Order: sequence, then C-alpha cells, then structure tokens
Amino acid sequence: MHPDVSEILYSEEEIAQRVSEMGKALTEEYSEIAGDQGVLVISVLRGAAIFMADLVRQMDMRVEMDFMAISSYGNGAKSSGVVRVLKDLTTDIKGKHVIIAEDILDSGLTLKYLLKMLNTRQPASLAVVTLLRKKTRMQAEIECKQIGFECPDEFIVGYGLDYAEQYRNLPYIGILKPEIYYK
Ligand code: IMP
Ligand code: MG
Repeated sequence: MHPDVSEILYSEEEIAQRVSEMGKALTEEYSEIAGDQGVLVISVLRGAAIFMADLVRQMDMRVEMDFMAISSYGNGAKSSGVVRVLKDLTTDIKGKHVIIAEDILDSGLTLKYLLKMLNTRQPASLAVVTLLRKKTRMQAEIECKQIGFECPDEFIVGYGLDYAEQYRNLPYIGILKPEIYYK
C-alpha cells in the first residue's frame, strides 16, 4: 500500500467487479433506449478517464467516447462550484443518447453545472453514472443511473482520483492521510 494512504476502501478486484456490473446494466438499459443508434459516453478530464476506459469495455453495444476538461479553480480538496470549460466536447450531442461517466460526486456542483450546460444542446437523453458518491449532507440533488459505491466523506485518492495531481495511478481507491493535505 502507498505510504500516504491510511486505508484501502475498494481494491482493484472490487472495482473491476463493480464496473463490470455497471457496464452490463447500462448495456441492457441502453440497448432498449438507444437501439442501433448507440450511446455517447463522455467523461470529464482528468479523474474520470480511468473509470470511463474500464466502463466502456464492459459495454456490449455501439459506444462513442468524448472528453471535456473543466476547471473548478485551484488544487484544493473542496469544490468551489465555479466551473470554467477548458476543453469542450468535439461531438455535437444533439439527438444523441449521452452518458456522463463521473469519478466522484461530492458537492455535486460540478455535475449540476455540466448537466445544465449539456441539456441546452438538446441530446436525445442525458444521464449520469458515477463510480463513487460521497455520503455528505451538502449535495446537490442529482439523479444517477448507476452508482458504483457510496463512500465515506473522506478525501480519497486512486483509480483516477488525485490530490494535487498525484495518486491517480494507484490501482485501488484509498483514504489519503490528512497530514498530507494539512502540511
Ligand atoms: P463536486 O463538484 O464537489 O461534486 O466535486 C467533483 C470533483 O471534485 C470530482 O470530479 C473530483 O475531481 C473532485 N473530488 C471530490 N472529492 C474528491 C476526493 O475525495 N478525492 C479526489 N477528488 C475529489
Ligand atoms: Mg481532481
């Protein structure tokens, strides 16, 4: 285990198992909704890229991929709710069945903003799947088609999640020792 991590919450095997279940469920649901048209899975760089890469390989249907980059200002541990688009989608989503693959839903402010923005582009449907949802009292109401794990309200890293751009490459998800971000 990485010395900056105090506890592993979800092992590599547990994540793989859960992501596989999520991919299968999406395949079933969207084969009905979208049919031959397939889906467009989008992820917000950089954290969700690893989850998305694994998720789409568990989907047995027509899948397109696209990416966005946004900045929520700063390297800190809390979301500000102020979102700036650094890189927009390349795809025109009008009339498409769009699934946003998110890494973690914390305050929900990032997603709330994104959903509002993408809805104005008139997709055929727009849904969210998130690998993790933090159990916190302060969360915007966001409907998710799939939630991988309900996780404790701790600062966690790994499998795409970072602290100051580090730890994204850990194959598991763990709790970061508080002394790392308080120092
Ligand atoms: P929200 O806008 O508060 O929901 O924050 C969403 C974004 O904040 C996520 O996509 C992550 O990039 C980041 N984030 C929130 N909580 C954590 C965490 O515990 N570890 C690492 N990144 C986090
Ligand atoms: Mg981040």
